[in-house]
Amino acid sequence: MTFPLRRMRRLRRTATLREMVRETVLDPGDLIAPLFVKEALSKPAPLDPLPGHVQHTVSSLVEQCGRLAELGIPAVMLFGIPTRKDDAGSSAWDPDGIVQRSMRRIRAETGDRLVIIGDLCLCEYTSHGHCGVLAGETVDNDATLDAYARIAVSYADAGADVVAPSGMMDGQVGAIRRALDGRGRGDVAVLAYAAKYASAFFDPFRHAAESAPRFGDRRAYQLDPANVDEAVREARLDVEEGADLVMVKPALPYLDVLARVKAELRLPTAAYQVSGEYAMLKAAAARGWLDEDRAMLEALTAIRRAGADLVLTYYAETAAARLRRG
Ligand code: PBG
Ligand code: ZN
Repeated sequence: MTFPLRRMRRLRRTATLREMVRETVLDPGDLIAPLFVKEALSKPAPLDPLPGHVQHTVSSLVEQCGRLAELGIPAVMLFGIPTRKDDAGSSAWDPDGIVQRSMRRIRAETGDRLVIIGDLCLCEYTSHGHCGVLAGETVDNDATLDAYARIAVSYADAGADVVAPSGMMDGQVGAIRRALDGRGRGDVAVLAYAAKYASAFFDPFRHAAESAPRFGDRRAYQLDPANVDEAVREARLDVEEGADLVMVKPALPYLDVLARVKAELRLPTAAYQVSGEYAMLKAAAARGWLDEDRAMLEALTAIRRAGADLVLTYYAETAAARLRRG
């Protein structure tokens, strides 16, 4: 049956009809808020390239977590900025490190209302800013795995529900899974940054996390933006190594990757709307070039439609508040 018997516009006629046939619904429960906490800050420090966001103190972080939980956001992803950086990134697995202390405080204040996810990487902790231990000018994959395993255990001890390795080392999920299980922590889940691209859209984050590499770039460990089959292989390997959830990052420029990963693995899948994606919308909105609320909801809905069950986004709080207002 075709036109004029078939008329697609019939179901678009009123708001209620449109809602009845809507395929993708965005809910605060789908969102995860990335948060930055910096050691030795006496008050929160605003982040210029990430408008509306700050580097938190532990206290302001805990308060923010309370607000997010109140809005129906189920989870936070923590990034720490330590006072002391060294070649090995050893502050990252300090039982009293900034992320570990934050996890304990959030758990104490918000109980089980929030899922606590720890981003697990070394770039915020190494003096050179790379995501692993160096051998000369390259990142030594296997030596880095030992460090990741220690961080995972320290996060578990501090109360993390989920650890999220983001360094793109081969074997990182397996190394972390074995370390956790070896400590009797089979209950802690792994969210694998399975397909993380060597992207230009991370720059505001690197300012926020103080994690830009001092030399070179991350192309020897993160994915080439030109590849999609490789991303599916990465994700499949992570699942074989024990990943419970997988992530694609960035989100909007990589919706095809997201759709493939979701379709081929059928696993809980997250997408990370990264700092540069947020900054672009913010900058255009500040100039009055687009309607920020509409653009935000459209982008987040599109990411869900492409296959993301969960979206990490700097818009988490704004979007949840907007969705609650209806
Ligand atoms: C580092 C890390 C990065 C992001 C999350 N973890 C940046 C990078 O690889 O340099 C990017 C997040 C964002 O841009 O919002 N392991
Ligand atoms: Zn890193």
